[in-house]
Amino acid sequence: MIPEQFIQELLNRVDVVDVVDKSVPLKKAGANYSACCPFHNEKSPSFTVSPTKQFYHCFGCGAHGTAISFLMEFAGLSFVEAIHDLAKQVGMIVPQEARDPDRPPKKVVVGLQDVLQQAASYYKAELKKSQRAIEYLKGRGLSGQIAAKFQVGFAPAGWQSLQSVFPNYSDEVLTTAGLVVENDQGKRYDRFRDRIMFPIHNQKGEVIGFGGRVINPEDTPKYYNSPETPVFQKGHELYGLFVARRAIRDAGRVLVVEGYMDVVALAQYGIDYAVAALGTATTPFHITKLMRQTDEIVFSFDGDNAGRTAAWRAAMNALPALTDGLKLRFMFLPTSHDPDSYVREFGKEQFEVEVQNAMPLSQYIAQHLSENNALSSQEDKVKLLKDAEPILKQIKAPMLSLMLRKRIAELAQVTDAELQSLLKLPKAGGAPKRSIKRQSRSPLSLKKRFVLLALMRPNLVEERDISLVEDVAGEDVLLSEILKTCLANPTFKPAVLLHTIKGADVNLMAEIEKELHQLEESLDFTLEFDGARTQLLGGAQQFRETKLLNEVKEKPLSALTLDEREMLSKLGAK
Ligand code: UTP
Ligand code: MN
Repeated sequence: MIPEQFIQELLNRVDVVDVVDKSVPLKKAGANYSACCPFHNEKSPSFTVSPTKQFYHCFGCGAHGTAISFLMEFAGLSFVEAIHDLAKQVGMIVPQEARDPDRPPKKVVVGLQDVLQQAASYYKAELKKSQRAIEYLKGRGLSGQIAAKFQVGFAPAGWQSLQSVFPNYSDEVLTTAGLVVENDQGKRYDRFRDRIMFPIHNQKGEVIGFGGRVINPEDTPKYYNSPETPVFQKGHELYGLFVARRAIRDAGRVLVVEGYMDVVALAQYGIDYAVAALGTATTPFHITKLMRQTDEIVFSFDGDNAGRTAAWRAAMNALPALTDGLKLRFMFLPTSHDPDSYVREFGKEQFEVEVQNAMPLSQYIAQHLSENNALSSQEDKVKLLKDAEPILKQIKAPMLSLMLRKRIAELAQVTDAELQSLLKLPKAGGAPKRSIKRQSRSPLSLKKRFVLLALMRPNLVEERDISLVEDVAGEDVLLSEILKTCLANPTFKPAVLLHTIKGADVNLMAEIEKELHQLEESLDFTLEFDGARTQLLGGAQQFRETKLLNEVKEKPLSALTLDEREMLSKLGAK
C-alpha cells in the first residue's frame, strides 16, 4: 500500500489544472478554468476546474474529484497507476509499496516494460529493412504514415533474431514478456518470426504486448498474440485505444471491431475511432473502459457467422455494464465483408452511413429473440418470455430495461403488467436512478460556512475554533474533524484536506465537497473566515449567557457566586 502521507503530499504538489489540461484543454473563466465536460456529451461548458480548491466539478453531470480521480475516470487508470502517473509528472518517487488489498498480487518483473518497448522499436526498424513486409502492407492499402501511427513492425524470419537486441537472450524477463518461448528441451527461440507486428499499448501508451500476422498465407496460425503476462490481460485491453483516444472524443463514439487490420484499415480511410478486442469476446471490462471515453459504442463485427455470434456475445456481456446514458448499437455488414474489406470497397462515406444506421441494442435483442421463433403458438410466446427473462434481469439501467420490456411484451402480445408478473421482474423504474442533479444553492449554516472557509485558509484555524463547531453528532462531528485536519495541516489545499479525512460519512463528505465547490472564488477568504468566527463567537457567548441566566434564575440568591451576581446585575435581571 502506498503510504497515505505520500498521497497527501503528492496531491498537494500537483496542480489539478495541469493534470486536466493535458487531456482536456481548459479555458480560463474568471477564477476557474472551464471546458466541455469530458464525462458527458455537451455543447456548452459546464465542467470547471478550481486551482484554489484543487477540484474539478461538472455542474451538468455531477462528476467531481481530485487529480487522482480524474486520471482514474478519464484515462481509466487504477488508483495505484494514477498515483504513479502523477508522481512522475512532479518528479516524486513513490515509496516502496506492499500490495494494494484491492488488487490481486501482481508479480513485479523488473524491466518487463523496457524489453517490450525495446522489442517494439526493433520490430519497427526491421520493417524499414524488409521490402517484402513493406510490399505486403502496401498491398493491403496501408500508407507509411498509418503504419507509423500504429507503430507497425516486422519480426524477421530467424529463430533468435531478438538476440541482437537482447544479448542476454536467456534472461527470464524475455519469456515473461512473451517475446521468447522455451520448449521442453530447454531450447529458446523468438515467439514471433516472419510476422507483421502490431504492438498493443495500454492507455498510457506503453507497449504491453503484440499481435503478429503471417505474411505467407500458408503459415499458421494467421495471427499469433502475446500470452497473458503481468502487464497484459486480454480481457481488459483493447487494440488501438491509445491511438484512437482523441478521435473517439471528437467523434463522440467508438467503433468496436474484431481485427487488428480492421482498426488500421479504417484509420487509413479516416475512420480513426475504432478499437478491437484482442481475439477474445468483448468483456464487461471492455465496455466499462469504453464508457469512460464516450457514451456511444457501435459494434461492427464481420458479416460471417462467427461475427454474428461475436456480436451477440458482446451484447450479452455488455448487459451488466449498461447505463441509460449509453447508446449501444450493432452494425451488420454483408456476409462476405469485414470492416476492412467494406471500407476498402465502398469508402468512408458509405461506411459511416452504415454506422448511422446501426441497430440499437433493444431492437437487436428483440430481433434476435424472435429470429427462430414463429411466435404463432402459446408455447412460442412462452419460449420468448423464457429467453428474455435472463436478459431482462441483467439490465440495471431503468429506461433501457423498460424499453426492452415493452418490446418483448409487444412481441409476446402480453401487457407489461402481465410480463412483469410472469417473469417476476422488479417493477420498471424501481431501480435506483443515477440522476443528474442540478446543484441547488442551499443557505449554509454558519458553522458549515465557517468550516468551508477554514478549508480555504487552513493556516488561520486555531485550537479554540474547534469548540465553536463541536456539538453532538452527525454533521457536527465531521465539521470539527475538518477543523482538526486543517489545524494539523495548515499548508494543505482544500481537496487534499478533504482527502485526508478518513472514515467520514460519505454523503456528508459529498455535500461538503459540493458546497466547497460553490463557494465563490471572488471572496476574500481571510476576511470572510474572521467574520464567520466572530459571528460564531458572538453566538457562543450569547448561548452561554442565556444558559447561565436560566440556571441562575433557578438558584436562591444566597447560593450565587460572586461572578454570577456580577453577571446578573450586568444583564439587569433579578
Ligand atoms: P480475422 O481473421 O477476422 O482477422 O480475426 P482480420 O483482422 O480480418 O485479419 P486479416 O484481414 O485477414 O489480416 C480477427 C481477430 O481475431 C484474432 C486477431 O486478434 C484478429 O485480429 N485472431 C484471428 C487470432 O488471434 N488468431 C488467429 O489465428 C486469427
Ligand atoms: Mn480482415
